[in-house]
Amino acid sequence: MTIDLDWENLGFNYTNLPFRYIARYKDGQWSTGELTGDNQLHISESSPALHYGQQGFEGLKAYRTKDGSIQLFRPDQNAARLQKTARRLCMAEVPTEMFIDAVKQVVKANEDFVPPYGTGGTLYLRPLLIGIGDIIGVKPADEYLFTVFAMPVGSYFKGGLAPSNFVISRDYDRAAPLGTGGAKVGGNYAASLQAEVGAKKAGYADAIYLDPATHTKIEEVGAANFFGITAENEFITPLSPSILPSITKYSLLYLAEHRLGLKAIETDVPVSDLNQFVEAGACGTAAIISPIGRIDDGEKQYVFHSETEVGPTIKRLYDELVGIQFGDVEAPDGWIV
Ligand code: COI
Repeated sequence: MTIDLDWENLGFNYTNLPFRYIARYKDGQWSTGELTGDNQLHISESSPALHYGQQGFEGLKAYRTKDGSIQLFRPDQNAARLQKTARRLCMAEVPTEMFIDAVKQVVKANEDFVPPYGTGGTLYLRPLLIGIGDIIGVKPADEYLFTVFAMPVGSYFKGGLAPSNFVISRDYDRAAPLGTGGAKVGGNYAASLQAEVGAKKAGYADAIYLDPATHTKIEEVGAANFFGITAENEFITPLSPSILPSITKYSLLYLAEHRLGLKAIETDVPVSDLNQFVEAGACGTAAIISPIGRIDDGEKQYVFHSETEVGPTIKRLYDELVGIQFGDVEAPDGWIV
């Protein structure tokens, strides 16, 4: 390792690394992707991605293990989710093999930037699929650009595994009932910005979004999914078509049931039932698991376990998940590449 970075305190920030992968889709086929040093995209000013939001993205990480090797966590799931996003927005799909090959090329080319084992840092990969070309009417693009770039990252939420406080957004939705909430598209995140900025200004880590049809049920925690643990040893997480299906969330559902012996349930989580949880958390690739200390909803406050200490079940889930990701704990079949 020749790179000298403050590996323990990376935060979640963009870094312009030496290499990224880029491929273009034209006349019904993908070009052979290649690595480039140029971090600027050269696309038509009329690209549908820029005007009409015809784009989708992914987030996954590369992990340095104790023996110094590097591994990916469930990249096939990210490939499948990007394909689902592509179908929702009528974009060309990136085949799974091409997706995983692109990710591997970018990790290998930037391997000195994969943080050392033991620092908690990872190499975050951002695959991006955008509609490009000379189109001004509202219709699907004929041409697409697929890129994968990377950067070393640490904690997404400031506290890491320390609990953060959140506030329920009553003024803004991030998605519509039959909209694109279940697809990983930039528009969902753009729609969340006003609530996020307001929440942060008021001292919260982020905003919590409710189901857009009735505004009675918990959907997402900022750019992450929600889960709670009950006193009856249930791991409960909301189920709705407008929630982004987090790969971390589905991994936790599996680990909760098969490794921790909890009852894993996807179901509605009404705001009025928040008091059933003795612990709660936000989960996602970027966030990993961030314990929720308190949720405020107007005058009402819901406190989970503690505002300062991580709860015991979330700690066990975190150790299991992160142990698998860094190669210290045996992974279920097919999870590690
Ligand atoms: C991820 O967890 O990878 C995400 O995509 C969240 C992100 C928008 C920061």
